[in-house]
Amino acid sequence: MAEPAVFVIFGAGGDLAWRKLIPALYNLFLDKWLPEKFWILGQGHSRRSDADFRQHLRQGVDKFSRRGKSEDAAWDLFASHLAFIASELDDSQSYARLAKELAAKDKEWNVRANRIFYLASPPATTEVVVRELAKARLNLDRKRSRIVLEKPFGQDLASARELNRTLTNAFDESQIFRIDHYLGKETVQNILAFRFANTLFEPVWNRRYIDHVQITVAERVGVENRGRYYDAAGALRDMIQNHLLQILCLIAMEPPVSFNADEVRNKKVDVLRAIRPILPEQVQHYAVRGQYGAGWIEGQHIPGYRAEPNVAPDSPTETYAAVKLLVDNWRWQGVPFYLRTGKSLQARISEVSIQFRPVPHHTFPASAMLDWRPNRLIIAIQPEEGILLRFEAKYPGPAMRLSPVIMQFYYREAFRIVPPEAYETLLLDVVRGDATLFMRADQAEAAWAVVAPVLEAWGGIRPTDFPNYQAGTWGPEAADNLLAQDGRSWAMPTFLQCQEDIAVCRVTMAPSS
Ligand code: BG6
Repeated sequence: MAEPAVFVIFGAGGDLAWRKLIPALYNLFLDKWLPEKFWILGQGHSRRSDADFRQHLRQGVDKFSRRGKSEDAAWDLFASHLAFIASELDDSQSYARLAKELAAKDKEWNVRANRIFYLASPPATTEVVVRELAKARLNLDRKRSRIVLEKPFGQDLASARELNRTLTNAFDESQIFRIDHYLGKETVQNILAFRFANTLFEPVWNRRYIDHVQITVAERVGVENRGRYYDAAGALRDMIQNHLLQILCLIAMEPPVSFNADEVRNKKVDVLRAIRPILPEQVQHYAVRGQYGAGWIEGQHIPGYRAEPNVAPDSPTETYAAVKLLVDNWRWQGVPFYLRTGKSLQARISEVSIQFRPVPHHTFPASAMLDWRPNRLIIAIQPEEGILLRFEAKYPGPAMRLSPVIMQFYYREAFRIVPPEAYETLLLDVVRGDATLFMRADQAEAAWAVVAPVLEAWGGIRPTDFPNYQAGTWGPEAADNLLAQDGRSWAMPTFLQCQEDIAVCRVTMAPSS
């Protein structure tokens, strides 16, 4: 059981607490992962009673918890640990009061509890909260006081450095937990298990056997009600700088010596530092941006991005980004990593596709090879979580004919349990003080350095072709060209691919049966 903990959530009236944090804490509570002694203090600036706050949070739990609607008895017990404090984020006195309340709680519990300061407030308020926490001396206990930050972690390299300076002036790096919620996803963590707990794959995990890697995070949703934030960010900042680069790190990193937070993070930073900088004059050959126009998704008409609430009618912000990256080290020299992400696409799919090289010599006659395809390993992150391996088999029948088949592992089938949400894993890690799955300062900065030349180039030239893809498609044509110039194409996402493979099998059966 974890040590006693107090969570102070700044901006607890907002969406993040409602949709993610409280449902995650509630599930941890139901699963008995939370310490027996815990207290959740939500800070917000509108006045409301504890009862009103709890009621609001319960609605969020009922809507977003993986378990569905909450039950009265369990909720009431959980809710007795919840309280609301109305204050302004820049009001020093409220922090002094908070310090007193926390000290009183320690006294009541007769133990020094872990204090987790969770910044769910707008990014612009981070500096003031950090400063005020320090003024109230709430930063001083290096072992027990922790601060948790959400992305966006800066707007670019310079602002990320500045933010790191602000944070490290008040907190030690070991107290700072920068969340990238992708790192809490089961399948993303499973990349480490898959690579480093098996002997089978590591020997082929390099430039000799791998042709290229594709990382896709496709979203069906548009910008929703986040136009204000998103229009100043765009897909490169919102997704590639963090989630997709983190996945790339897990795929490309060297084997860590141990599962120790710094060891794992050191190996990841090595990857980011090995990524070849994109030269300003080459950005157009390495990166593609897109913005959705009106279209249809599942029979529903979707407005174009520029018609979304809080988005400028002539917005140059990209809702789609694709980049080609090269990792300059022994293992990956010459193996391109293609990353793509976008909103209002045809399907919600996140997956990594590792395409192996063709066999060095074709043993079989051309007639046997009509459906031949190179081996491919797919790490499916969502909506399905699993791993699939495509290889060639002999198609049954008197003729020698090869056909791709798929060996599949799905979490839901193999373990028959609903995996925890990313936020559950990450919040529990914060309670335990385990920073393995969190971004260290140098990691965040190295990731900004990777995207910096693209940000700069895109920021300097207004796109003239926006919108350049229709909602409900797979993105702009230029993204296909990014791979076509290398003689490759984007892999069809897994389940569509599986369907296609089955179709291919049927077609090949026809002449021989
Ligand atoms: C967030 C981005 O970090 O990740 C959102 O800000 C995006 O724009 C979201 O929709 C995607 O997360 P998930 O877990 O739904 O893939």
